[in-house]
Amino acid sequence: KIYPVILCGGSGTRLWPLSRKSYPKQFSALMGETSLFQQTVSRLSGPGYAPPVLLTNAEFRFIATQQLGEMGGDASKILIEPALRNTAPAVLAAAIALEGEPDALMLVAPSDHVIRDDEAFRAAVEVGAEAAEAGRIVTFGITPDRPETGYGYLELPAAPSAGAAAPLTCFVEKPTAEKAGEMLATGRFLWNAGIFLFSVRTILAAFAEHAPQLMAPVRASVEAGRPDLCFFRLGEAEYEGAAEISIDYAVMEKAANLSVVPFDGGWNDLGSWETVWRESGPDGQGVATTGGATAIDCANTYLRTDSDGVQLVGIGLENVVAVAMQDAVVVADIRQAQRVKEAVSALKQQN
Ligand code: GDD
Ligand code: MG
Repeated sequence: KIYPVILCGGSGTRLWPLSRKSYPKQFSALMGETSLFQQTVSRLSGPGYAPPVLLTNAEFRFIATQQLGEMGGDASKILIEPALRNTAPAVLAAAIALEGEPDALMLVAPSDHVIRDDEAFRAAVEVGAEAAEAGRIVTFGITPDRPETGYGYLELPAAPSAGAAAPLTCFVEKPTAEKAGEMLATGRFLWNAGIFLFSVRTILAAFAEHAPQLMAPVRASVEAGRPDLCFFRLGEAEYEGAAEISIDYAVMEKAANLSVVPFDGGWNDLGSWETVWRESGPDGQGVATTGGATAIDCANTYLRTDSDGVQLVGIGLENVVAVAMQDAVVVADIRQAQRVKEAVSALKQQN
């Protein structure tokens, strides 16, 4: 049995003003009719999948259950993290909560990615499941097309072969630009999709070995946790005692039992407006629009409005992203779209 473990506690500030602290991007209809969270839940359902385990925080718990309800879905568990401690403590808490089923598999997945081919993804999971059952920590590898420094890199022993799990030589999280360029040039590296598959037993052993400092506080927070409606609230004081670290640094960079399943089904981490633009099918001029936006004589431009009643028109623009909501508008050089997070910090200081 595979438990999808869905991370839905983040608040992606680089997609402001669509993504808000109170309503982050994974719950918005960023691409398509349903939210990225709902797309993730439906991708990871069907024969062989248990209802998902959700990892979120108190603020988003009702959005998550409402969106799950809209799909007629149910959750196996909804764990409420009392503090932001990044992915390692969160995943460890889920593993401890599933400890009674040591052979169950956990498929840890962010809820803010797009994957165009769900069918192909489930097939990749099936390939990975065999390795995971044999005690491997399985990653999913994407063919890189640029020396991106915001991702993890997976080194294969030889040229990657599709359709099988290959043992990994090493895992490098967020390299420098120089190192990323070198790795890209060898042709032996894939990007880490940020999705992991392992058994409860395997990941508990990996945490005990590579991140033993997390074990006591996270275990204590599960033990001190209490049910509240359909939620399970982890113990606050105990969870706050856990170090803030991602699973990539805490476990993946250190573990020796990693495997990778190459995956080529239209994966994209919608990290910034630039990636949303690329995913929105820009035309020959590089122009894409969403909602009621109109582009006249533009090139390499993304115009988007998510509010009914807001009209957005761009004329003669080049390399521009403009996103208009009812109460906030951002206009930026599309090549600097990463910097939208600076707007959020700047506005925070004004208020
Ligand atoms: N529940 C919960 N709690 N979710 C969290 C927390 C937390 O404390 N912190 C982060 N997340 C969620 C984020 O919302 C996101 O969906 C996912 O966990 C990964 O966190 P990011 O902060 O987005 O990580 P990243 O993008 O820098 O790097 C990871 O993903 C890349 C691919 O997108 C790594 O796994 C990289 O190696 C990978 O290449
Ligand atoms: Mg990310």
